[in-house]
Amino acid sequence: MSAASLPTGARALMSLGAMTATVAHELRNLLGGVELYATLVAEQCAADPALAPLTGRLLGGVRRLHAVAANLLAVGRPSRPALERAPLDLARLVDELADSAALALPGTGIRLVRRPGPAKAVVLGDAERLRQALLNVVLNAVQAMPQGGVLTIATRARDGVVEVSIRDTGVGMDRATLRRAFEPFFTTRPRGTGLGLAVVREVAAAHGARVHITSRPGRGTTVRLRLPLAEGSPA
Ligand SMILES: Nc1ncnc2c1ncn2[C@@H]1O[C@H](COP(=O)(O)OP(=O)(O)OP(=O)(O)O)[C@@H](O)[C@H]1O
Ligand SMILES: [Mg+2]
Repeated sequence: MSAASLPTGARALMSLGAMTATVAHELRNLLGGVELYATLVAEQCAADPALAPLTGRLLGGVRRLHAVAANLLAVGRPSRPALERAPLDLARLVDELADSAALALPGTGIRLVRRPGPAKAVVLGDAERLRQALLNVVLNAVQAMPQGGVLTIATRARDGVVEVSIRDTGVGMDRATLRRAFEPFFTTRPRGTGLGLAVVREVAAAHGARVHITSRPGRGTTVRLRLPLAEGSPA
């Protein structure tokens, strides 16, 4: 069916989607540059106890905005670009993610625990999309701990599968929330868009990966992402 033969309401929705995608694309590109500079400033200030919390907050805010723009782009684009799958080291990608999370944590009361597993875990994947998905999970974990807590980022490989787990000691989810958590636009946060986990699910599905969430209200949440290791990768 061509766009012209669609009912008016459907056409309006399509152009709304296209407009959202265009705006999100511009924002994402601009914020990518801002995030880079904010990261550089945060690195410079990491050892300064007065400045680190301020630059950490700046970086955290920019990163959240960047993620929202990227998520809007991922769902708003009328036609999804194909995944670019290439061999990539997931252990390193997770390591880099943890490095950048560490920079944004000063002043939040959140302690980062890293449990790196294999030195290398090669998967066939789209690095940018996987980074986006994992960042969404880390942001959720941070947002679930407004009073601080422990963020644990772990990787392990076994039986041809690599598992990345991201655990927080935050507010947790009740059953009803957990059931709907992956729905696009489902959110319980006043400033949430409800796209983070929808994108995680989509990226996981495109990689033949599984996402599993366990959560207890008041205790915290663990999100596990399991991907098949590429042929020849250790474990
Ligand atoms: N780690 C977590 N702890 C507690 N609740 C969570 C966690 N992760 C997700 N949720 C719940 O699932 C909902 C959906 O999460 P999702 O990431 O899709 O959207 P969001 O975080 O609300 O908004 P966005 O990610 O688009 O900024 C959240 O609003 C929250 O209720
Ligand atoms: Mg989110």
